[in-house]
Amino acid sequence: MERQKFGSRLGFILVSAGCAIGLGNVWKFPYLCGEYGGAAFIVIYLAFLLLLGIPILVCEFSIGRGSGKSVAASFEKLEPSGTRWHWMKWIGIVGCYLLMMFYTMVGGWMLYYCWRSIRGDFVQASTEMVTGAFNSMLGDAGTMVFWTLLVCVLGFAVCAMGLNNGIEKASKFMMSALLVIMLVLAIHSVTMEGAEAGLRFYLIPDFEKMVENGIGNVVFGALSQSFFTLSIGIGAMMIFGSYMPKNRTLAGEAINITILDTSVALMAGFIIIPACFAFGIEPGAGPSLVFITLPNIFAQIAGGRIWSALFFLFLFFAALTTIIAVFENLIAIKIDLFGWSRKKSVIVCAAAIIILSMPAVLGYNVLSGIAPLGEGTTIMDFEDFIVSNNLLPLGSLGYVLFCTRKNGWGWMNFQKEANEGEGFHFPAGLKWYVSWCVPVIIMIIYLKGYYDMFKGGSTPRLVFWMAVALCMLAYVIISAAGKPRIRVKNRKG
Ligand code: ALA
Repeated sequence: MERQKFGSRLGFILVSAGCAIGLGNVWKFPYLCGEYGGAAFIVIYLAFLLLLGIPILVCEFSIGRGSGKSVAASFEKLEPSGTRWHWMKWIGIVGCYLLMMFYTMVGGWMLYYCWRSIRGDFVQASTEMVTGAFNSMLGDAGTMVFWTLLVCVLGFAVCAMGLNNGIEKASKFMMSALLVIMLVLAIHSVTMEGAEAGLRFYLIPDFEKMVENGIGNVVFGALSQSFFTLSIGIGAMMIFGSYMPKNRTLAGEAINITILDTSVALMAGFIIIPACFAFGIEPGAGPSLVFITLPNIFAQIAGGRIWSALFFLFLFFAALTTIIAVFENLIAIKIDLFGWSRKKSVIVCAAAIIILSMPAVLGYNVLSGIAPLGEGTTIMDFEDFIVSNNLLPLGSLGYVLFCTRKNGWGWMNFQKEANEGEGFHFPAGLKWYVSWCVPVIIMIIYLKGYYDMFKGGSTPRLVFWMAVALCMLAYVIISAAGKPRIRVKNRKG
């Protein structure tokens, strides 16, 4: 059966950008910025996007377009026989599931807050009431289950309508609305009285603050965030490469998507950080930042009910475009692996995701006694840690090795695919950099990040987690180390 394709170039860009633009931009980026000292973190984050993010995204799109398959079958299609590159598919499959296991829940929070804003629950509310509202939502298993379920149903309903009529149309609408809402909110926020201190914090790097937070932590945080924001390393973007016609180069499209993604993240910072300073709210509040601080701010301004509803609608649209894109991956994986129809895949994936989302949901109430990463952490923190700090960098490492090694797909095939069509060409002069520097940088930051994260605890704990990191890294290296049985020319497919 011929692979379905996007209806237009704009469709490809907006669906892929929709996959990239999500909670990472509008929820994680502002609180990481707040925690890690503002502009200094942004500088490192932008450097990672340029030096690692874009080349890896081009590799991922190329594997997708070259194979015409999802991550579940792409390596099998392109690898020389006798090699083990197809082991990489498990990082993609597990990564997509794990990401959605907590992402649907946070998407549900956004929708719930949008609903509460429309109802006017935060109008004139005191700080205690707003903080209490967030905590009581977390403690209420019924509410959490309901909104998570609603998000799952909405996401799968769009996917059931197919690539062109469902995903492409919904993403085009939501992405356009998102860009407009965001611009309005950013202008509103930066023109508020008292916003200058926030703008200074956001725009002027304070490297001393970075040293205070631990350089390793900040650098690892920036690396993980740059991979998270582009959704690279778990095959989520690969699928859109496989739906893309050959008329445009992949480097050009990867740059467009990264620019869109970065603009949204920076804009989210412009909405949230100056507003925090204007109302004397601490920007380092962590994951609860938008839920505790923003309704507080909106409670005190004229027309706050409308601004608040718009703001949470914007967060929800950002989340939903990513959810739809990753759901599409899960569905395509089933189709590629088992040859199922789209309808059957949608039903099975929906049931699986609804059940698998429950540990994160219940981790805040019924299962709150479980603290997998140490006191105060939740099941969601653990799932996020596995995805963001492990699977994304390790999957990315695998893709880069596959595209550059002679026993893999190889540089020539990668270049040919990446540069097919009109647009910006991936520079041939970057061969050495992509083949050697990118993998080495990922490995060093990965191991150093693990070390910095766990060095504060007991030695057995540190040894345990370092062993985990080394085993995961070994998995990628063993996958990449297989010898081809026959020479490179005899490719399958
Ligand atoms: N790229 C997605 C986000 O930033 C996962 O939320």
